[in-house]
Amino acid sequence: MGTYTNYKLLDRGDGWAELCFDQPDSKANIFNESAIRELDVVCQDLAARRDLKGLLVTSAKSDIFIAGADLNLIKGLDTIDKALAGCTAGQQAIHKFAKLPFETVAAIGGACLGGGFELALACKKRLASDAKSVKIGLPEVMLGILPGFGGSVRLPRLVPLPTALDMILTGKQVDGVRAYKMGMVDAYLPNQDFNSRALAWAKANAGKPGRRVHTFMNKVMEKVPFRGIVFSQARKQVMKNTKGKYPAPLKILDLLAEIHGVDVEEALRREAKAFAVLAVTPVSKRLIELFQLSESVKKTNGVGPEVRALRVERAGLLGAGVMGGGIAWAFANKDIPVRMKDIKWESVNLGFQQAAENFGFALKKKKLTKNQYMGKMGMISGTLDYSGFRNADVVVEAVVENMDVKKKVLAETENFISDACIYASNTSSLSITEMASVAKRPENVGGLHFFNPVSRMPLVEVIAGEKTSKETVATLFELAKKLGKTPIVVKDGPGFLVNRLLLPYMNEAMFLFEEGVSVERIDRVMKDFGMPMGPMRLVDEVGIDVGAKVSKILHQAFGVRAQASPLAEVVVASGRLGRKNGKGFYIYENGKEVGLDDSLLEVVKGRNTRSVGLTDGELIQRMTYPMINEAALALAEQVVKTPGEVDLGMIMGTGFPPFRGGLLRFADNEGVKRVAETLDRFAGAGAGERLKANAALLEVARKGSFY
Ligand SMILES: NC(=O)c1ccc[n+]([C@@H]2O[C@H](COP(=O)([O-])OP(=O)(O)OC[C@H]3O[C@@H](n4cnc5c(N)ncnc54)[C@H](O)[C@@H]3O)[C@@H](O)[C@H]2O)c1
Repeated sequence: MGTYTNYKLLDRGDGWAELCFDQPDSKANIFNESAIRELDVVCQDLAARRDLKGLLVTSAKSDIFIAGADLNLIKGLDTIDKALAGCTAGQQAIHKFAKLPFETVAAIGGACLGGGFELALACKKRLASDAKSVKIGLPEVMLGILPGFGGSVRLPRLVPLPTALDMILTGKQVDGVRAYKMGMVDAYLPNQDFNSRALAWAKANAGKPGRRVHTFMNKVMEKVPFRGIVFSQARKQVMKNTKGKYPAPLKILDLLAEIHGVDVEEALRREAKAFAVLAVTPVSKRLIELFQLSESVKKTNGVGPEVRALRVERAGLLGAGVMGGGIAWAFANKDIPVRMKDIKWESVNLGFQQAAENFGFALKKKKLTKNQYMGKMGMISGTLDYSGFRNADVVVEAVVENMDVKKKVLAETENFISDACIYASNTSSLSITEMASVAKRPENVGGLHFFNPVSRMPLVEVIAGEKTSKETVATLFELAKKLGKTPIVVKDGPGFLVNRLLLPYMNEAMFLFEEGVSVERIDRVMKDFGMPMGPMRLVDEVGIDVGAKVSKILHQAFGVRAQASPLAEVVVASGRLGRKNGKGFYIYENGKEVGLDDSLLEVVKGRNTRSVGLTDGELIQRMTYPMINEAALALAEQVVKTPGEVDLGMIMGTGFPPFRGGLLRFADNEGVKRVAETLDRFAGAGAGERLKANAALLEVARKGSFY
């Protein structure tokens, strides 16, 4: 049979062949230019064959069927014409495949994403294995584009419209069993000898119609006017989730509505056009960069390939409070047994409760079975002494934020753990170097800073103190990845990276309030900018008292540039602590926000009106530019090494809008020189030293940009 570079064509008897995708010198199969061009040739060769009854499509890579299209190729598309040509080439090769005059069956035994799933959709049938590595999906929307190799056309013709919309609009990835339930594959088979089983299944079922899960209700929903209702609900959901900041989901909705019932070739033409428009948007470029950045993290251990991370199979946890309960859940969720120690049984129970709540949520959403739920909860045990700690590979400390207590706990714990055990503090502001000064093995001590709530926040800062060994850093970095988080290595220092950068933002919000701008307006402009919530709401969530305390610590460390508005203390003194006592900038009843606290205006009567006249754009500058100023300093001090880590940290740790590519991409986009000049203007207009552009920022401005 034919010889190709990316594919092997093998005879499988009875008129069947196997097309095995095996990209040379690569662990993965992806659709790059060569693979697409060659697929076209393969299709021409296959179409000419009169002897074939069927073709099984497989992959030679373990864990991967086809991982998608080459992202650098998409990132490099800088004109609509180029994007249209690139998309059409892939789409047409796959369309030729779809038209082959014999049975075609995809045997999906690993990740089958984007272009990979689009090829599978062009097969007459699809089979998935029950392997853990099977992930099926169309994640294009998360990269600011849409499935452009026929996926937007074929998926809605295979499965009910709501299922197709859900897959394409969210980019979700599902396993083989779920894909079967949703109607995206015809069968799922055991992973052992999957390709042989798939071939046998394909031969046995050749000529039979493919599986469809359309119910009577689904068919009704696809008729006018119900189809219109499905689309309008989906649009409402998209607007709720994205506030209209992301062009891709809206374009997907327009396209899917427009191509319903349209001839396939015409539908493909429209799909390619829509893809091309999205592929050249800055939002797509930013999202692709961000994805590549987080993927590159997965390939490192935070230190270097010469350093080996230790295996973590058992964990100990000190302090079962808000964070401890969340961290225990994170371990158990990845099947790592964890022993929680607290000083009171009530707290241990609270830790259990918190983990149970998170797992209970997964149970309710049917992501866990009852048995799995019990198994996960069984991973967590509790104690008031250190029994069981001798077996721990890692101990995470999440006791109260107090240096004396933390030092005492560390010194005591060292008596009960093995010499090799790594000890990591979850402190959000205290120095790891100072904490480790009481340790017998300071090289084993580092920081592992999770964000609240642990189950939802993807970032973990791995903090290296002065004596922390490279092996400890690598172990904590690998552990964070194992827990499903995105780690960044951060130098020890006040506020580490994320809280240090967030503080000037929160401070400026409070200063603007002091200068007469309403809480409602401050929060609205930042939400419009794309933050998940406004800063005043955020301070309510964190606790106004906690915010004021952290502010003070950073003020002591950084001096005038971290100075806070005295108004925060006044608000705290009036008995407003935020959500936790039902009263902050907003009022809360039964845990729900019910509106602004207008009585606050009495408390802050003496406010000036200096900033009332600022435009919304200027308010955004006042709150975001100081973060850029601080980031320039943090980079100069090598708190992290690259602007990419700052951006990843701010997006994953604070929800800084991903479509802006992160804080420093945003800075580059604004123009760093303009950022510096604007800060100086604010400094001259009353803010003084606090907002002056610092030397590090001026240096970046002189060079041109952060990236
Ligand atoms: N809450 C957050 O948003 C957040 C976010 C990131 C990091 N952190 C950090 O996590 C740590 C814990 O914060 P939290 O909010 O979970 O506090 P918390 O008050 O909810 O929990 C602290 C727990 O530690 C227990 N404890 C006190 N002394 C102990 C000891 N000697 N041995 C064992 N347990 C002891 C307490 O009984 C309590 O259950 C702090 O260092 C905090 O700065 C908190």
